[in-house]
Amino acid sequence: ATHAALPEKDCSSITPPYAKLVEKLDVVRKLLGGRPLTLAEKILYSHIADPEQSLADGKLVRGETYLQLSPERVAMQDASAQMALLQFMSAGMAKCAVPSSIHCDHLIQAANGAEADLKEVFDFLESAARKYGIEFWRPGSGIIHQIVLENYAAPGMLMLGTDSHTPNAGGLGMLAIGVGGADAVDAMTGTPWELKAPHIVGVRLTGQLNGWATTKDLILHLAGKLTVRGGTGRILEYFGPGVFNQSCTGLATVANMGAEVGATTSTFPYTPNMRAYLTATGRAPVARAADDAATKGFLAADEGAEYDEVIDINLSELEPTVNGPFTPDLATPLSKFGAFVKEQGWKDELSAGLIGSCTNSSYEDMTSVADLAKQAKAAGLTVKVPFLCTPGSEQIRATIERDNVTDALKDVGAVVLANACGPCIGQWKREDKKDEENAILTSFNRNFKSRNDGNRLTMNFLASPTIVTAMAFSGKLSFNPVTDTLPTPSGAPFKFTPPKGQDLPTAGFTPGETAFYPRPTPAPQPDTEVVIRPDSQRLERLEPFSSHFGEGSGNLRGLELPPLKVLMRVRGKCTTDHISAAGPWLKYKGHLTNISENLLITAMNDEGGEVNVAFDHDHEPSQSETDTIPGVAKRFKARKQPWALVVDDNYGEGSAREHAALQPRFYGCAMIVARSFARIHETNLKKQGILPLWFADKADYSRIGAGDVVETIGLADLLNGTPNATIKLKVTRRNGEVFEIPTKHTMSSDQLRWLRAGSALNHIRSQIN
Ligand code: F3S
Repeated sequence: ATHAALPEKDCSSITPPYAKLVEKLDVVRKLLGGRPLTLAEKILYSHIADPEQSLADGKLVRGETYLQLSPERVAMQDASAQMALLQFMSAGMAKCAVPSSIHCDHLIQAANGAEADLKEVFDFLESAARKYGIEFWRPGSGIIHQIVLENYAAPGMLMLGTDSHTPNAGGLGMLAIGVGGADAVDAMTGTPWELKAPHIVGVRLTGQLNGWATTKDLILHLAGKLTVRGGTGRILEYFGPGVFNQSCTGLATVANMGAEVGATTSTFPYTPNMRAYLTATGRAPVARAADDAATKGFLAADEGAEYDEVIDINLSELEPTVNGPFTPDLATPLSKFGAFVKEQGWKDELSAGLIGSCTNSSYEDMTSVADLAKQAKAAGLTVKVPFLCTPGSEQIRATIERDNVTDALKDVGAVVLANACGPCIGQWKREDKKDEENAILTSFNRNFKSRNDGNRLTMNFLASPTIVTAMAFSGKLSFNPVTDTLPTPSGAPFKFTPPKGQDLPTAGFTPGETAFYPRPTPAPQPDTEVVIRPDSQRLERLEPFSSHFGEGSGNLRGLELPPLKVLMRVRGKCTTDHISAAGPWLKYKGHLTNISENLLITAMNDEGGEVNVAFDHDHEPSQSETDTIPGVAKRFKARKQPWALVVDDNYGEGSAREHAALQPRFYGCAMIVARSFARIHETNLKKQGILPLWFADKADYSRIGAGDVVETIGLADLLNGTPNATIKLKVTRRNGEVFEIPTKHTMSSDQLRWLRAGSALNHIRSQIN
């Protein structure tokens, strides 16, 4: 089909420097002895800052070698941008080293279509954007990942984003990696950004999606196979004939939810559908440059490239899948979902359907859903439960409105919310089902407890937008639109025919209300004053953390950490949502003192099994022995008692939320010992000057508890540069028992410098000045 395209944009700042990248890749290839490379390797290795130096020994081992990379772009959402910018500001630079953008999406309230802006924060972000030459997407412009896909993403590019679903841009054949603000600051300050060379998992797609199955079902199915930990330290690289049948936005959905299995990112070879999407969104010059780079073999894997593992998926065999509740990897094929609900003893009742978000609000998604809405309307049906739709961008909102897609949804009872994250991140003023067990179905990507409506009892099941929509007409979880019928007012049973969507609008995209968009070419305006009110409760300038070492630290153990008191042993799943809750706390993202009040408030103490309870064995007579977790952390800070946490497996999974590292550090945490860490969070801890250690023997987890004292042995050797030095922990239990345990770590030499300086930012500042 032919589609009208947006007018061609000036693409000079968004076209990857392909000639340079190909040249650099040739250098790397030679250093590595000419072995065939996967696509992900090509993109990563062509962005190595100084290959001749870092790969001089010809050794690059996936899962071992640390790469120093130069990303081409940074994107930040409003919630995480605050802390990223506060940090960037304290690095003392005049402008950003790479093109960067800020997107106001998370902080917008999307209840009942209303939109309340947070003027103070947006004024701060806008003034900082103006000062440093950053593109500023105003509230109403849309969700970061959709806007990046529509405007900035390009095949072969390496981008960092301060949000865990940044990999969404992989739908355009690039590597987009979700990081904390401190990593973004690396790129923005031109400091090489460090990443341990990930393992590469090849996902070979064959066959053809049919019936109700969509790319969402592909990733829901894969999440079930891989689990939330299966992608840790790995890039998912899709290949095979099945890739080429999918729309670019459909691939973006798959890449988006790679975050749910903990993958570093996901990517695909350059396809004609990507070219069509680039052209339709006004970026034909990028498409032409990519076409040329593709002829040089840059945008696909080499013949014979080796993957660490290959997973085969036959798309022809995929059926719609429903994942949840409470974890995105609990995958149930739709045909078995009704029985699953019954087995669990849950009410066969759906209480709301939500579609859209950064994961699934493409033109294709929306037209497929509208197709179902039209079928249902013709049969005299309207939705049985609240049905909310969140468009991903102003461009999508305006385009679907023009094409009567919105009307088709509203006709059957849908409520269209603001172009923002909305209910996906808890900005949902839900009036019903308070503190009541209930089930919702969403086309979002994440379903941790309390995430959407603040109710821990709300079970969020993830499904494709079309399955969510069909189910909303039934109001029952056991409804299977593939096989079941619905009663209609006329008495005749109604069965949906499988939905059909259109990947690109025939009449082209329309940009909509351009007042939300950034002003053209934002040259830095150094005289701009960044707006932070001194009495602000939302924003606070960042004070550098002091180092645990050296003069003024009060540490008598030289380059070992001072003796640390264990604050608590955290049991089980502890995501960044547990460490730094979202919802109402989002408003304090730029105010470290205020937001720290939520530290670990939903984490479970392994000693006693209670949530948000910690023990203070050194309490004053006037104080109780137990308090909330932030309560005890504050007592430690007041006593200048540095402390440690003992935590379970995959600590810090879920998101790039760096507050989950900043907050414990703010209260004086110096070390976290885990059975295992989630990658992004582990890096965030290192950036903030907290030492992450892994139990060499996971059973040692249970041997340390609150009030015990832990001391590092061997850290000094490591900080002094002794290669392969190991760190042991000397544990002095409260009962006087003393023993040592071995640990492992992933600290590189640069990261050891950060630890020594007190934080990565302290180190960067000392380099600039
Ligand atoms: Fe926003 Fe939810 Fe995506 S919070 S960025 S819509 S995962």
